[in-house]
Amino acid sequence: MASEWTDAEIRRVGYLVVDLIAKHLTDIRDQPVFSPVPREVAERFLSTPAPRTGESADEILSEFGAAIEPYPFGNGHPRFWGWVNSPPSVMGIFADALAAAMNPSCAGGNHAAIYVERQVIAWFRELLGFPTTAMGLLTSGGSMATLTALAVARHTKTGLDVRADGLRGAPNRFAFYASSQGHSCIRKAVELLGFGSGSMRTIGVDATYRMDVAALERALEDDRAAGVRPIAVSASMGTTNTGAIDDLDAVADVCSRHGVWFHVDAAYGGPAVLLPEYAAAARGLARADSAALDPHKWMFVPVEAGFVAVRDAEAMRSTFSLVPPYIRSAGSATGVYGLPWFSEYGFQQTRGFRALKVWMTMKHAGLDGIRDRVAENIALARYLAERVRATPQLELVAPPGLSVVCFCHRGGADLNRGLLERLQLSGDAFLTSTELDGRFVLRACIVNDRSTRNDVDRMIETVVRIGAELTSGTAGAFP
Ligand SMILES: Cc1ncc(COP(=O)(O)O)c(C=O)c1O
Repeated sequence: MASEWTDAEIRRVGYLVVDLIAKHLTDIRDQPVFSPVPREVAERFLSTPAPRTGESADEILSEFGAAIEPYPFGNGHPRFWGWVNSPPSVMGIFADALAAAMNPSCAGGNHAAIYVERQVIAWFRELLGFPTTAMGLLTSGGSMATLTALAVARHTKTGLDVRADGLRGAPNRFAFYASSQGHSCIRKAVELLGFGSGSMRTIGVDATYRMDVAALERALEDDRAAGVRPIAVSASMGTTNTGAIDDLDAVADVCSRHGVWFHVDAAYGGPAVLLPEYAAAARGLARADSAALDPHKWMFVPVEAGFVAVRDAEAMRSTFSLVPPYIRSAGSATGVYGLPWFSEYGFQQTRGFRALKVWMTMKHAGLDGIRDRVAENIALARYLAERVRATPQLELVAPPGLSVVCFCHRGGADLNRGLLERLQLSGDAFLTSTELDGRFVLRACIVNDRSTRNDVDRMIETVVRIGAELTSGTAGAFP
């Protein structure tokens, strides 16, 4: 069937889409931060089979406007501070459409998308303080970046030919190290790489939730003495729980003394290297063997966009490279096949053009623009912490790290649980929770360039109001 998409029709529908985007982005402040998908809408999604015949673009867009756009995750809103999710940069939104229009595979080849990604890799390499000989790759996010990095660590540090033999014959002989505050993706990666969670060592933290580096060294020594081979340490530049930054320089020293792979999870906190205040962390980060940095967190690139950097480019390539005859024949930099393919440096073969949204977002904001947004978010988090300190019903539970603030209502764990869910369902502001030292706490992570002090004030007022209603029993039945 010939395409119905004439030039005029592409423009007509395209402008409708642009109208929807503009409406969504500009109306969002006046919409609830979050409202759950109504049952009947959800049921319709779950029960409607694939259409036998096509519908018109207008019908499809109208369904988008009625059943999809009104029920967002929430992270476009100025009072969304849940998990680590930013609003999208507008250039990133446009870039996604343009990337889809070109629809290349970024496995490799001699087309422009590859050079865009190469440029982005070079920018991030410099941001992280890695040498120009290092390699990197855009990934779906921090989890895939971590898996990729630890796969290279496994390839390099086990002393086995893992590609040929796997880990056969070597059960429980290896160990990985992260603090109790390390992200769950580290353990997931260790499990997926075949080591088992029994090879994860959880290192304790100090009062500010930074890895206890002396304890790390002891754990490495104990493992060595027991005949276990330490493979990699993952330290954090910005933990998810509290935004804590480990003493990366000290961890780097320990890793180099023990010949262990040094990975830094900078998925969230990485962009803070742009601020002079974090120069010490930047120096430690620059010593890593590998690092994860998520443009889809504090760089405002629409999801999905993660990045992994690996200092030893050849090790990365020999971890993943497998080039069957049907993929390509040998290339040259100026020919059809171009530079070594990205698919030789990671697991994916066909890869999307995610570099374009990173590239356009960075070009539009500039590093200075990103630095200013990060600085504003950190200042806003400190303001939030001050407001908590000044509010008698609330307690600041941890020192604010980067742009994370953990606090609670003084009414106890059950009250805080009820309060959080009511707050989320109120549509007024959106926080999430975590556990610190076994205690349930409310957590705000401000990676949001739309948030203002007024938004913080309003969230505090709502939290105090819901807390009072719950305390006095006037909160009403739970929805
Ligand atoms: C510190 C940190 N590391 C890793 C991740 C995992 O990243 P992703 O969700 O992009 O896979 C997160 C996610 O929030 C994170 O906060």
